[in-house]
Amino acid sequence: MSQKPEDFFKHVISHSKEYGYIFQSSEIYDGLSAVYDYGQLGVELKKNIRDYWWKAMVQLHENIVGLDAAIFMHPTTWKASGHVDAFNDPLIDNKDSKKRYRADVLIEEHIAKIEDKITKEVEKAAKRFENFDAAVFLSTNARVKEYQDKIDAINARFKTALNDNNLEDVKQIIIDLEIVCPISGSRNWTDVRQFNLMFSTSMGSVSEDANTIYLRPETAQGIFVNYLNVQKTGRMKIPFGIAQTGKAFRNEIVARQFIFRMREFEQMEMQFFVKPGTEMEWYEYWKKARLNWHLSLDLGADKYRFHDHLKLAHYANAACDIEHNFPFGFKELEGIHSRTDFDLKQHEQFSGKKLQYFDPELNQNYVPYVVETSVGLDRLFLSILSSALKEETLEGGDTRTVLNLPPALAPYKAAVFPLVKKDGLPELAESIVKDLKFDFNIAYDEKDTVGKRYRRQDAYGTPFCITVDHQSLEDKTVTVRHRDTMIQERIAIDKLSTFLEERVSLKSLLKTL
Ligand code: GAP
Repeated sequence: MSQKPEDFFKHVISHSKEYGYIFQSSEIYDGLSAVYDYGQLGVELKKNIRDYWWKAMVQLHENIVGLDAAIFMHPTTWKASGHVDAFNDPLIDNKDSKKRYRADVLIEEHIAKIEDKITKEVEKAAKRFENFDAAVFLSTNARVKEYQDKIDAINARFKTALNDNNLEDVKQIIIDLEIVCPISGSRNWTDVRQFNLMFSTSMGSVSEDANTIYLRPETAQGIFVNYLNVQKTGRMKIPFGIAQTGKAFRNEIVARQFIFRMREFEQMEMQFFVKPGTEMEWYEYWKKARLNWHLSLDLGADKYRFHDHLKLAHYANAACDIEHNFPFGFKELEGIHSRTDFDLKQHEQFSGKKLQYFDPELNQNYVPYVVETSVGLDRLFLSILSSALKEETLEGGDTRTVLNLPPALAPYKAAVFPLVKKDGLPELAESIVKDLKFDFNIAYDEKDTVGKRYRRQDAYGTPFCITVDHQSLEDKTVTVRHRDTMIQERIAIDKLSTFLEERVSLKSLLKTL
């Protein structure tokens, strides 16, 4: 698509609203910032993504089981996990615009601008030289080297400042890099302060008795506190995993970019419990497995890359992100973290209960180490929707908007149309829907011309349109039109179910893993 990235992103947002994928929360009251609702098509796509993750993680792994822990947890959980003391963002305000920013984001965006300059140098050189070798160019070009040295120096200083919690130096980096507020254009910054991201509320009817509790900022802690329950009752042997999907809440300050960063969102997390000392092996295993899962969606291998964390979270000894190329650039989609035995040990200490595993092979008890995979369902939704949305110019100059969603994830698997609203065609079309609807989510549409109906389903992302015409009455065949190629073929009505099963079931996608 030749649109500018920011225009394309606006197109993604307006398409989401126009076709019932995503609405602003409480829109009739002018909305609630960074909170969104999923409409009639959005809820189906979201559910299909969740189901695909669940089947791939739980059903395809004998040693991974599921869990659905409550959102409310005992408040000590968050003391033990470190979230009360360390789940902070470093914030800075611009005194002129009164806008608040995450200091780390300002610095990362500055680095991204320098990286853009390197990309431009490479593109310029590629245009100039025949047989251009990017690797040789990158290692020899003086200007590129200068940019790279700058990036390395900023990264090193920034990492030290964050690790030492040296907020004065974080501010100084922003000043030294001459970063300006995008709204006021000024460098009139406040000091950097830490801000805790957890939402709190109270539980109990009488205010004096009420306890402050938190809305969970990650689903992972529900898994840790149930680790022994699941291990014992499920007779799980290490290595094993516990997976869960569910809502998480964070009082994000820089909440923008649509459903990329929300205050209420859904996570899909899996904690994999391993023998201490084997965690790096499993960390590498899950990095590969999770990247493969994303690649199986066939949205383009060049849309994903790994990014190692500069600053490790308080619980990790190794961590990386799988980044996705969103309409606003490469950003974190999923986190893979080697969390050591931090969480279980903390819960042992705060609860006074042992959370150990007896290893029959070693004849020894230990607290397992944990490798975590954690992906935001809403972010995943955005990555899929924005990669799938295309504006195509057809032969003859006509255009169409199409959502090339992976068929197994599409809200409707097929739409059935009677060619005309008479001659018994609607009745035959409805009987086809009746047969298919037990296995597939099927749309029925008899309004407007067939051409308009095709366009509507293209915009929904429906992979197949089935048209019932007069020939169907005679030979019990229908026309099936493929969304992506627009090719039409004639198929016997009694073969439709198998035809769809092979192309749109989650099974067809799972088999590619
Ligand atoms: N249990 C580990 C954990 O929560 P994280 O990197 O903070 O790690 C994991 O979050 C994933 O959750 C992210 O990769 C992202 O996909 C998603 N996520 C985090 N904050 C989010 C937000 N405010 N809005 C939407 N998704 C978010």
